[in-house]
Amino acid sequence: QDILGSLASPEIQTCPFPFLDRLLAEAPVYKDPLTGMYVVTRYEDIGHISAHPELYSNKTTVVVGRHDSPVAQEVARRFADRGFPEMHTLVTNDPPGHTSYRALVEKAFTPSYVKSLEPYIEALVDELIDGMLPNGRANLLPEFAIKVPMYIIADQLGVDRADYDRFKLWSDVTVERNNPLLDPDRELEITDHLIDMQNYLHERAERYRVQPEDNLLSRLVHAEVDGETLSPPALIAIAHQLLVAGNETTTTGITTAMWLLLTKPDLRAAIEADPSRIPTFIEEVLRSHSPVPHMWRVATQASRIGDVEIPEGGVLMLSYLAGNRDPAQWACPADFDVGRKGVRNHLAFGRGIHFCIGNQLARGEMRIAIRRLLERLPNLRLSPDHPEPQFIPHFAIHALDHLHIVF
Ligand code: HEM
Repeated sequence: QDILGSLASPEIQTCPFPFLDRLLAEAPVYKDPLTGMYVVTRYEDIGHISAHPELYSNKTTVVVGRHDSPVAQEVARRFADRGFPEMHTLVTNDPPGHTSYRALVEKAFTPSYVKSLEPYIEALVDELIDGMLPNGRANLLPEFAIKVPMYIIADQLGVDRADYDRFKLWSDVTVERNNPLLDPDRELEITDHLIDMQNYLHERAERYRVQPEDNLLSRLVHAEVDGETLSPPALIAIAHQLLVAGNETTTTGITTAMWLLLTKPDLRAAIEADPSRIPTFIEEVLRSHSPVPHMWRVATQASRIGDVEIPEGGVLMLSYLAGNRDPAQWACPADFDVGRKGVRNHLAFGRGIHFCIGNQLARGEMRIAIRRLLERLPNLRLSPDHPEPQFIPHFAIHALDHLHIVF
């Protein structure tokens, strides 16, 4: 095949669209020369793969992880001795295990429960805006967009406000741990932090077992399907996943949405004139700039996608960013169109059995954050004293580097 570039290259990560457009047109299943992974870009192919977990497994850590190394064994020993063994529950799992964990989490994380959180989300958003107001300027990324999802999930997992710094550390080290080139000593340090987190969450969970509260962790402790509840290690693994999966993603959604509004005056005027368009605006933000650029699958047997042979064990990258710009699915995909028909069919939350379980919470947070920022920050604009925000070179997130604003 022709070498068109690699998703591991920082230049392409900073500005991926010309490359992804070429893949869509010339090589819709493309063997990435640097990673050896098969990049799948067509909307239809991504849908097909997502519908067949028996052929394309989510247990990607089996290949990506360092499971046989001495460090990995030491890590596993520490978790087992002082914390809880790590488990595949949702995102790195397949049926039938995935099916039963997912059913239990859905019992706790219901749409009506998420809806009931809205007044509390609005109060939190307002509190953060109150903190920025007197300054007339802010970097919206650390001062607001990081805090909204982090504080919400911390509250939902029963973390006391006094412990937010620890919670932030646990979130950060989990992201850091995904680096395949991590130094072994650092990996052991991270393991110790994560063991602290496991024990913290376990202590909270045991408290809620006796005395339920109306937060997500307590609801998970008491969730029951066919008489089954979550075991302590499964509960901890799921809580950990909720902590990580909703943070950088929602932060990025909020930041990108505000950046688009501040750089497109017509769009902003349309949204300010009719705030009832905020929900569809958000969907178009997620379509055009999916925070999760891709997810991985491992082929359980040899198969064929389009005219490319995928060997057993081959790793696929489902490019949600590309599928959301596939001209076979979307009219004028590069245009930002708030009235786009069928926009909720975008791939930003994935497809099929792993479809994002936090999508309603993320959508609610984004909606409330955008509405209140526009309503409450007068004369809001990008800071003229800072360089234009840029997308950071990163393998696993499509996110801006800052959002300095003045108001
Ligand atoms: C799954 C994106 C917010 C929890 C996913 C997947 C995507 C995604 C693409 C599918 C993974 C796959 O294909 O393998 C996003 C985006 C968000 C967001 C773009 C924000 C804009 C959240 C929030 C939470 C959350 C707020 C929870 C508090 C999860 C979990 C899964 C998941 C637990 C795994 C579900 C499963 O495997 O059954 N998310 N997510 N996400 N998400 Fe989200």
